[in-house]
Amino acid sequence: MTLQKISYMVVSVASALAFTAPALAATETPMQAAIHEGGQLFAAASLGVGGNSCMTCHRGGGRVDGMLPNGKQIPSLIGAAASFPRYNERAGKVITLGMQVNSCITNGLHGMPLSYDGSKMVALVSYLTALSQEKPIDLQGVK
Ligand code: HEC
Repeated sequence: MTLQKISYMVVSVASALAFTAPALAATETPMQAAIHEGGQLFAAASLGVGGNSCMTCHRGGGRVDGMLPNGKQIPSLIGAAASFPRYNERAGKVITLGMQVNSCITNGLHGMPLSYDGSKMVALVSYLTALSQEKPIDLQGVK
């Protein structure tokens, strides 16, 4: 085994520990904590029914292309937050990122919509926005 492989393994173990260790979590800033909580909610089955989560459709934490239960491909969520607010054809109005999240919870997960100022919605919006850092905001080309 090469030294490079060994050091990679050490890094993997260290990051796996960092993810679960409460001692390290206590050193997080409130912003980091919200993003982490959002990432956990994104993977959790608690927002819907039948054991499904956001990850059922949005694979890899939303970082890679997703797939619907019927096999249809959907794009990754990298940059998605930068394209909200957005006119939504089906809704017939401009919707925010939070409204999109609630649409996915009610239509995709058959769950109860979240309160817009509750900590779960704040966490999910924080997580999704973190996936769009450095992406230019695009309001359907409107300046
Ligand atoms: C059953 C599959 C399914 C589940 C589960 C699901 N989504 Fe979606 N999501 C979609 C589809 C399909 C779209 C694109 C069409 C649409 O707007 O409904 C989408 C779109 C989105 C978008 C906008 C992406 C873009 O660039 O337009 C965001 C953000 C999003 N979902 C977040 C979530 C979150 C957060 C959850 C979990 C609470 C979730 N989704 C659960 C299917 C799903």
